[in-house]
Amino acid sequence: MGKIMLDVKDLKTKYVTRFKEDVYAVDGVSLQIEEGKSLGIAGESGCGKSTLALSLMGYYFAPLHYMSGSIEVDGRNISNMTPDQVRKSILGTEIAYIPQAAMNALNPTQKIIRFLEDVIHAHDPKVSKKDIYDMAKERFEILGLPESVLQKHAVELSGGMKQRTVIAISTILSPKVLIADEPSSALDVTSQKMVIKMMRDLMEKGFIKSMIFITHELPLLYNVTDDIMVMYAGQIVEKGTAKEMVFDSLHPYTYGLMGSIIVPEAGTRDVKLTAIPGTPPNLKRPPAGCRFADRCKYATPECKAFAPAMKDIGGGRAYRCSMSLEQLKEVYGRD
Ligand SMILES: Nc1ncnc2c1ncn2[C@@H]1O[C@H](COP(=O)(O)OP(=O)(O)O)[C@@H](O)[C@H]1O
Ligand SMILES: [Mg+2]
Repeated sequence: MGKIMLDVKDLKTKYVTRFKEDVYAVDGVSLQIEEGKSLGIAGESGCGKSTLALSLMGYYFAPLHYMSGSIEVDGRNISNMTPDQVRKSILGTEIAYIPQAAMNALNPTQKIIRFLEDVIHAHDPKVSKKDIYDMAKERFEILGLPESVLQKHAVELSGGMKQRTVIAISTILSPKVLIADEPSSALDVTSQKMVIKMMRDLMEKGFIKSMIFITHELPLLYNVTDDIMVMYAGQIVEKGTAKEMVFDSLHPYTYGLMGSIIVPEAGTRDVKLTAIPGTPPNLKRPPAGCRFADRCKYATPECKAFAPAMKDIGGGRAYRCSMSLEQLKEVYGRD
């Protein structure tokens, strides 16, 4: 087993709304990523993926609050750090974070090279502009981005180019973990492929040591990440290798998400997603029983009464359902 880059145990975080209501958006998430590995996190909109991304960095500011659990980056506990400490000593160097819709947040009036100067100077104010330029030029070239991009403004770049530029800027300090929140969701198929290729290159060339790829489209992760976790209503409901998750789904939710989908080419969305009828529960008042029971066509009255724990079945594989493997096989066989 490789060195663990990110180790998260039973992390619970919540939003406190203006009306003092608690929203339990991340409710007991555990995960581990080894050096050289990538993890995909998939789930419907509103299940807590973006909140999990923020929570994993220990970057808590209102209305998001840490409740409990531990986060270790390369053996260092960051869950007790202040946002200021996280910003100074974690972001960029230990963890790079690409927020959802990041490319639209680039200041359009600033040249790309200035963003790189900002990132590098936040870490070390003494580095000269010349050294930053040389470093950026070399990194951009290795990643297949033309040097000319450095002198351009964000508005002059196409969507795909802007997103790849954002990724190159965020990872310039070669962090241990890259967390990318829906990095390809707003792009056309060709740009999606290029973004995914770039993220793989970052891993292969050792510019990042591990990666989390978040998406609301589970099949997109096939052939993109080593492992996948599926999230539902603030919790992980299943985990396994990408192949197991796609071809041998255990949890009825994952099974429903995969539906009769033909697995697409790596990192593309030319698939028809099967919709699961119903809506996820309200995270202000999560149900006492299984959170998926209301939408599960196999649910029994017991499912609504008792919350199933995550069942570890070995080899890194686990699922959160009261049904045994034999029962699951039987119900899916009858479909
Ligand atoms: N600032 C906020 N205040 C209160 N609730 C929020 C806030 N941001 C997100 N939420 C709620 O937290 C839950 C998870 O949201 P989010 O992490 O954005 O989901 P996803 O990224 O999977 O679409 C949702 O129920 C959402 O309504
Ligand atoms: Mg999101």
